[in-house]
Amino acid sequence: MKSGFNRILVTAALPYANGYLHLGHLAGAYLPADIYVRYQRLKKRDILFLCGSDEHGVAITVTAEKEKTSPKAVIDRYHPANLKAFDDFGMSFDNYSRTSLPLHHETAREFFKEFHKCGVLREKQEKQLYCEKDRMFLADRYVEGVCPNCKYPQARGDQCENCGTWLSQTDLLDPKCKICGTTPVVRDTTHWYFPLGNYQKRLEEYVQERDKRDGWKENVLRYCQSWFKGGLEDRAVTRDLSWGVKVPVSGYEEKVIYVWFDAVLGYISAGKEWALKLGKPKAWEDYWLRDDTKYVAFIGKDNVVFHCIVFPAMLMAWNDGARERYVLPENVPANEFLNFEGQKFSKSRGWGIDVSDFLKFFPADTLRYTLALNLPESRDSDFYLKDFQARTNNELADILGNFVNRTFAFAERHFDGNVPALGRPGKLDKEMLALMKNAPGTIGGLIERYKFREATFESMSLARNANKYFNDSEPWKTIKSDPGQCSTTIRICLEVVRSLAIIFQPVIPHFSARMWSMLNLQGVVEDQSWEAASAPSLGESHNLGKSEILVNKVEDQRIEEVIRFLEQPDGKDSMATESKPAISIDDFKKIDLRLGKVLSAERVPKSEKLLKLQVEIGNEKRQIVAGIAKHYAPETLVGKLVVIVANLEPAKLMGQESRGMLLAASDNNGKLSIVTTAEELSSGSVVK
Ligand code: 2FM
Ligand code: ZN
Repeated sequence: MKSGFNRILVTAALPYANGYLHLGHLAGAYLPADIYVRYQRLKKRDILFLCGSDEHGVAITVTAEKEKTSPKAVIDRYHPANLKAFDDFGMSFDNYSRTSLPLHHETAREFFKEFHKCGVLREKQEKQLYCEKDRMFLADRYVEGVCPNCKYPQARGDQCENCGTWLSQTDLLDPKCKICGTTPVVRDTTHWYFPLGNYQKRLEEYVQERDKRDGWKENVLRYCQSWFKGGLEDRAVTRDLSWGVKVPVSGYEEKVIYVWFDAVLGYISAGKEWALKLGKPKAWEDYWLRDDTKYVAFIGKDNVVFHCIVFPAMLMAWNDGARERYVLPENVPANEFLNFEGQKFSKSRGWGIDVSDFLKFFPADTLRYTLALNLPESRDSDFYLKDFQARTNNELADILGNFVNRTFAFAERHFDGNVPALGRPGKLDKEMLALMKNAPGTIGGLIERYKFREATFESMSLARNANKYFNDSEPWKTIKSDPGQCSTTIRICLEVVRSLAIIFQPVIPHFSARMWSMLNLQGVVEDQSWEAASAPSLGESHNLGKSEILVNKVEDQRIEEVIRFLEQPDGKDSMATESKPAISIDDFKKIDLRLGKVLSAERVPKSEKLLKLQVEIGNEKRQIVAGIAKHYAPETLVGKLVVIVANLEPAKLMGQESRGMLLAASDNNGKLSIVTTAEELSSGSVVK
């Protein structure tokens, strides 16, 4: 940490309480934030780590409509579930709050009132989309259309999920009401606007200055530059909705504050709630209202504009007028997205795996380790079950686990479970001690620069080197030929186990705690200092604890169980029977439907559901993977004419490339039938 800062404030994006957390969430903001915080705690820095559920906005009300329940029931279902998933994953928040708390409503209203009073906000009558059928203004996610920037067809009223552009709903091309699918009309409505443009110059200076001081990530800077280039404009901060924080201005009783305006303030309320729970109601001010606080906001890439532009502008506006001065983010390390088995996580398509489900199969630290090495730090990255299995078995178990377990086994067998004397270290021993001495500095430097993948790799390198040292030292020989040397070797190995327990603590805290208890050392790893990982410190003759296998390998069978679990029809989020909004004939024409002739078909190994088909489409031959193995024996498909979506982006399903999709109908009783033709037509024929 650079000098001048006396404490650190860390926030991680508040996830919407409208669904279960999946692995993509963890890789975006949460695991990096947790590694950073755990490291800073070992550095003995004064740090506060805040998060909570984002419980307002159309994300919640749309879910309530889908689930045929109330917004309150939605948040009361997902908030505790997500809190538990975070806990099981080992997130070490100081407070996990929620924006439905009265305390938060007060905070958001206080900011709004202050801006209103100081004349920061402007009231304007503007055109908004209104659905005549549903008789409502279509705020945010209630309207979808084509993104004017990237042409993504499902951009929402306030943001395009695909390119991240922050939109005004009237920018959308071909807008459609999300509830009934009709084209909305344009009507006038009055809202309060925040004049972002007034802050553009200061925001540009702010980003530049913080980047110079703390090194902002390239991807984040690129997003900021593109918004600055486009020019910042007034943004409506109220909405025609009933769910949310009521606007504290008379005449606005029927409207609420825009969810993003209240959500970012949720970080502040989370601090206030933490202080109240602590019994020191003003303690939050020590972090939020001090200019010697380093504030780091961890987020995913779709949140960049709100954290690098909107939130800082709001804090500038507050700081200009009011008594207290809030600290602005020193850095906003945003990650890109994580894909699952080669495809985007998608709730509606049922693609991906929830954190709580994953943790039913595997220990949290195996997940933390693989995710840490695959974090989408500079570009989108992938999570593959096979890679997870390989990392767990070949690295966590075979390198770290093996080193720890063989060291303990040797100490138990040959030194009565006691720490042997250091003796007189030779060349090999000194080299190992030097690696141990340097590791905390190298790894810490990487974490300070938000390079968590490399930091995790370097931590495992120490274990890899330690294994090599064990092998090269051949203690099983020296125990007879040179017992003094053998004692030195095992002593150094035990010192390295202790060092590994400390430097791995931010990434795999549960394994690290077990290493600590096997060493039978006082207290907990968290009490140690990061620097303590550099130097030998075990007492001679210290009695070690009982050793146990640190990391169990992931068997093929277990991976197959997960695959089977993922292939089950998922009742809880399935939208299969829901009707979809109307589309135009032009939209339909974008789909290239063709007849394909099945040339051959076989099962995909280890999958109960997938068949791999070779299909002829006119002159072309393609491989298509289809989830129909439970309904068709492969050989019965050969020669059939099937309907193919020929222009679907290629995808990989369980490691197999699929270029196109086969159409099939399925009913609620689990019956499925592929779509075929009654007449013998040529393959490649257009279906329309
Ligand atoms: O994108 C999201 O999931 C938002 N709920 C993140 C909010 S972060 C902060 F502003 F609260
Ligand atoms: Zn877009």
